[in-house]
Amino acid sequence: MTLAELLPSIGCSTEPVLEEGLWPDGTRLDGADLVIGGVPATQLAARFGTPCQVLDERTVRSRARAFLRALPDAEVVFADKSLPCPEVYRWMAAEGLSLDVSSAGEVALARAAGFPAWRIVLHGNVKTSEDLKAALEHGVSRIVVDSFDEIAQLGSLARHGQEVMIRVTPGVDAHTHAAIATGVEDQKFGFSLASGAALEEILRVVEQPSLRLAGLHCHIGSQVRHVASYEETVRRMVGLIASCGVRIEQLDRGGGFCAPYLPGESSFDLFGFSQRVLGVLHYECAVHRVPVPRLLVEPGRSIVANAGVTLYRVCAVKRGVTRTFVAVDGGMSDNPRPALYGAKYAVRLVGRGGKLRSATVVGRHCEAGDVLAEDVLLPSDVHSGDLLAVPVTGAYHHALASNYNQVCRPPVVAVRDGVARPIARRETEEDLLRRHV
Ligand code: LLP
Repeated sequence: MTLAELLPSIGCSTEPVLEEGLWPDGTRLDGADLVIGGVPATQLAARFGTPCQVLDERTVRSRARAFLRALPDAEVVFADKSLPCPEVYRWMAAEGLSLDVSSAGEVALARAAGFPAWRIVLHGNVKTSEDLKAALEHGVSRIVVDSFDEIAQLGSLARHGQEVMIRVTPGVDAHTHAAIATGVEDQKFGFSLASGAALEEILRVVEQPSLRLAGLHCHIGSQVRHVASYEETVRRMVGLIASCGVRIEQLDRGGGFCAPYLPGESSFDLFGFSQRVLGVLHYECAVHRVPVPRLLVEPGRSIVANAGVTLYRVCAVKRGVTRTFVAVDGGMSDNPRPALYGAKYAVRLVGRGGKLRSATVVGRHCEAGDVLAEDVLLPSDVHSGDLLAVPVTGAYHHALASNYNQVCRPPVVAVRDGVARPIARRETEEDLLRRHV
């Protein structure tokens, strides 16, 4: 029996307490209101409307700094696909991080933010010639190549000395959802280490006069909990470095560091990671007698996920045969993650308390699978007009949002020290109509 099932059966009313580790740093309860970045959620909803994606700037910056502190000699590259937003790029630039982009569109956003090109890395298993041209024109520092076709195309487009890294598939299981596991064999990313393809490509890049091999890259997946998977990856990558006979200056270990989504889940142990992974790196390099490459990491989720909270307004409550459905004014258009990865979320009613019972929070879209959170505890008299807050929505929410059912995408509102300001505005029907001919 889950907690949600148990509590109503004993008629329990819980004291309002904030789930530990899920909410942005400094989030607090003020009566039944929720104060994020010094701004009450009820005020944010009244001023910016709902759904509204709130982002706490101090949390984002402090998570970025935590990576720099844990890995002082590494290059920390923010994976912008987790939150593509020029203002966030500016925060990253100011904190001293680099940026990973994966399309001409993301290059355009980075350019708009004035992000220094010499700290931008381009990724992607497919880069169209537009992507490559945009990156070259902007002067991005490194391009991570992911296919032979790309190496050939880049070789002819690039000016002399364009730095590249080769994406390697290390054959390591990250024990995460299959849709976001990218380190195992036989999927679309990278050159296989086991088959010898990675080694072949290293030699091929070295032969291209317009390219310069800067390093090797690997990314084993996202929402990765096991440091052991990272250790094994580094072990294998150093083996490859030793066998290729070419000096490898940089080893990009990719991103993937997990974030807690539900009460009781712990944050990623960054210091444990740095000690164990750096230990393996130095040990393996010594064993193989190769110089230690500079480490790069590419965190996305672990920097922004817990900085985000989405506010929704309840529009309808319906009693099903066994469940109570609480329908809100957003859904899979602002959060497709439950449908895509079976992701689970906590939900809190803001503005009042009451006896709790289990409910299923659903969206407004025309699909039965448009469920935001199942079996969460909400006051038994939850009704239309209530305000709900969902934590851990800073990563891959704004990024994955769509216009399904022609619903306008919500704004991203940054909060800091009691001040709220939109850093991406709410989409309007004019925006929707603009594309149609
Ligand atoms: N580097 C590369 C090459 C990547 O492909 C990714 C994420 C990252 C770094 C950052 O990974 P992170 O630290 O954020 O886990 N939409 C999915 C996640 C897709 C991840 C794609 N690649 C989700 O919502 O869970």
